[in-house]
Amino acid sequence: KKDGYPSFMEKEINDQPDAVAQTLLGRSDIDGNLTLDEIRVDPAVLKSINRIIVLACGTSAYAGQVARYAIEHWCRIPTEVELSHEFRYRDPIVDENTLIVSLSQSGETMDTLMAVRYAREQGAKTVAICNTNGSTIPRESDAVLYTHAGPEIAVASTKAFLAQITAAYLLGLYLAQLRGNLFQGQIKDILAELAKTPAKIATVLANSEQIKELARSMADTRSVLFLGRHVGYPVAMEGALKLKELAYIHAEGFAAGELKHGPIALIEEGQPVIVVVPSPRGRDSLHSKVVSNIQEVRARGAKTIVIAEEGDESVREFAEHVFYIPETSPLLAPLLTTVPLQIFACELAMAKGYDVDQPRNLAKSVTVE
Ligand code: F6R
Repeated sequence: KKDGYPSFMEKEINDQPDAVAQTLLGRSDIDGNLTLDEIRVDPAVLKSINRIIVLACGTSAYAGQVARYAIEHWCRIPTEVELSHEFRYRDPIVDENTLIVSLSQSGETMDTLMAVRYAREQGAKTVAICNTNGSTIPRESDAVLYTHAGPEIAVASTKAFLAQITAAYLLGLYLAQLRGNLFQGQIKDILAELAKTPAKIATVLANSEQIKELARSMADTRSVLFLGRHVGYPVAMEGALKLKELAYIHAEGFAAGELKHGPIALIEEGQPVIVVVPSPRGRDSLHSKVVSNIQEVRARGAKTIVIAEEGDESVREFAEHVFYIPETSPLLAPLLTTVPLQIFACELAMAKGYDVDQPRNLAKSVTVE
């Protein structure tokens, strides 16, 4: 069942090229145009929505946060991401022009189910992105877009996260196609780029020995900070969550721009800081701003560990360790940058002798509120 891997966690991390490929499969036609037949919500309704609320918990909520950048950019629909358990209890404004997108690997998370039910009662249309066929959340939603990551057995989510981002991107492109926000050619280009990611994830996996070695050398670490910006921000939070869950190490993910508004006070000699660097080919000056952040923490004694795009030499000077991911478009980068962070957490936990498939105090699906 573990395909020769010592743990489900390692198997599932290595399953990720397939998880993304399977989620893309059959969702575009021979000409490379998007075909999402399973979205059985009246196109007229989808054209009239003026707001999207993404509901999820934990890792799935981070996938939602990543997707928000793409959906707003492609569809120009105001999009919020909210933790399901917070949403329900704040008397949220939801109506028939709101599209609710729920993200759940299990499809059984009680908080997300209750939030979807509540939104539906208010007249909102609901689309579930889910990895488990026939589970409760899809059954109670207007439409479902399944992620085809295959069964995820390890308690901490890995391959479902990449598959959720992939599916949410497909939904974003579908809405952009329907509403005429992108040209057909643009959609085809993005789909073609997405189709190349499984092979790039495989490259990241094949080059993981160096980050495993670093992880093993850090088994005594008490705390790790993660920084990112734009789509790299939720990736940083996901990297921190994996480290907490698997290795029981205190970890926090910050938006790099917040550093000087507080978190930089935490930096002292030897503090490990893992930085997800945006592509130098990306938007505006985000890359140089994040490189400055690396310099700032380094100057205060941080041990800097950097995830950057292949060919980005500018980070070398300020980083103790650099791990490169293949080039991709900025919005697709999370499908690659997340992988070394998962490997780091998994390897460090194994070095400490922990059971990576069944971390203490956690359950695979949280079916109580
Ligand atoms: C983290 C993790 C959890 C789940 C969360 C939501 O590794 O697995 O944070 O992501 O409990 O679960 P689903 O996606 O099943 O609703």
